[in-house]
Amino acid sequence: MRNKVYNSNTKPGDTMIKEKIQNALNLQLNQELYAFYLYLSMSSYFDSLNLSGFSNWMRFQAEEEKNHGLKFYDYILQSRGKVDLKQIEAPKKTWKSAREVFEDTYNHEKKVTESIYDIVDLAIAERDHATHNFLQWFVSEQVEEEATALKILEKIKFIGDNQGALFILDREVGTRSNA
Ligand SMILES: [Fe+2]
Ligand SMILES: [Fe+2]
Repeated sequence: MRNKVYNSNTKPGDTMIKEKIQNALNLQLNQELYAFYLYLSMSSYFDSLNLSGFSNWMRFQAEEEKNHGLKFYDYILQSRGKVDLKQIEAPKKTWKSAREVFEDTYNHEKKVTESIYDIVDLAIAERDHATHNFLQWFVSEQVEEEATALKILEKIKFIGDNQGALFILDREVGTRSNA
């Protein structure tokens, strides 16, 4: 029994995840870091409009995305895979309105959900139960991320051109401190 374990062909440097899975996880790590960049850019845009509540909200959102990236980073290392830090695409720098920012946010989250689902599909196809299990946290997280972005987008749509209401909403979203 002992020999069976220790006489296996594994050696330091061998990975416990398949290359296909490793590549997908590295791409997702990059996507999460891109989201960090995107939301940080949105935070600075809101700051330039003196909408400090929205700016604060986006900064927390950015922090969350950085942490998502680190979850992938840690999981790849834990699986003895190789982390491949790719170039991070430059995000959009300016928007027409708060509404456009939250349309982009909601659409971005939907895109991320799709890409998480793609890796889940791949993990199932490759019978990688560990990765499948790891990804379940992200499946739940995306439900929350989409719902939160949509809720704020709907409120912004509801208030329309009412600047006073926008400042009240700014104060409301500015209370976020959960990241
Ligand atoms: Fe994320
Ligand atoms: Fe997200």
